[in-house]
Amino acid sequence: MEFIRIDISGPVATITIDRPKALNALTPQVLDELSQALEVVNTDEVRAVILTGAGEKAFAAGADIKEFPSFGPFQAQEFAVRGQNLTRKLEAFPKPVIAAINGFALGGGCELALACHMRVASEKAKLGQPEVNLGVMAGFGGSQRLPRLVGKGVALEMLTTGRVLDATEALRVGLVNAVTTAEELLPTCIKIGEQIAGKAPRAVALTLEAVNRGLNMTLEEGLNLEAQLFALTFTTEDMQEGTRAFIDKRKPKFTGK
Ligand code: HXC
Repeated sequence: MEFIRIDISGPVATITIDRPKALNALTPQVLDELSQALEVVNTDEVRAVILTGAGEKAFAAGADIKEFPSFGPFQAQEFAVRGQNLTRKLEAFPKPVIAAINGFALGGGCELALACHMRVASEKAKLGQPEVNLGVMAGFGGSQRLPRLVGKGVALEMLTTGRVLDATEALRVGLVNAVTTAEELLPTCIKIGEQIAGKAPRAVALTLEAVNRGLNMTLEEGLNLEAQLFALTFTTEDMQEGTRAFIDKRKPKFTGK
């Protein structure tokens, strides 16, 4: 892969968008490589994934604007769908994906972060949907996921003014889970990944499924789904191990079975 780096350290894999000269802007090739990277890290050994950007300045400054003037509507649609397929794959990934937002997360970059399961930002992070400055709009899911995360009012303000939020404001509106210094960003995300790695992988995966699918259902449908997935955890060896370990007053040893 030309623009993606993968580092696997124990149970936590880090995927880095590595195109710092263009502030990690997202071309079709970068999107395809990111999609391939998710396949590479989808192993039993990996229990959590961190997504970040190379360099000091950017997580990803958005779709590659330099390609836009040559697009017609069909190419624009194809590009949006390509990005949306990637964000759906991120969202449906069976292990938690943590966005480590090290700098600009704008437009498509913010939309990638929105599709991750949680977001941690460095003090230097800047998040926004500035597409309206270019005469376009969000196309990798921002118009749908941003209001689900921060509420309609804040989302519409961001999407229609293009105003970029600093890390403190992003934390205040619930766009990110936590803010750290630049140095502490990856260690913090690795710590979260390691906490997840200590849990039963199938219970974690089913939880991701319950939340992701449930948010698009009525409460009644979501509760029904939750009860079914809860029942599924009772088919796992890890459920026996976890409950026995509690009763025996010892730490559980989960195997993923
Ligand atoms: C292509 C980009 C880019 C982008 C930065 N660069 N963002 N190239 N696409 N999205 C390039 C610059 O052209 C420049 O390369 C180099 O990266 C450094 O950027 P500078 O602008 O010189 O840096 P700086 O002055 O620090 O400003 C940083 C910035 C600015 C504020 C982030 O780069 C910026 O506003 N970028 C665009 C952000 C944006 O509008 N994103 C939304 C895109 S639309 P050269 O070689 O020229 O020096 C989108 C739609 C998604 O994402 C949905 C699609 C379906």
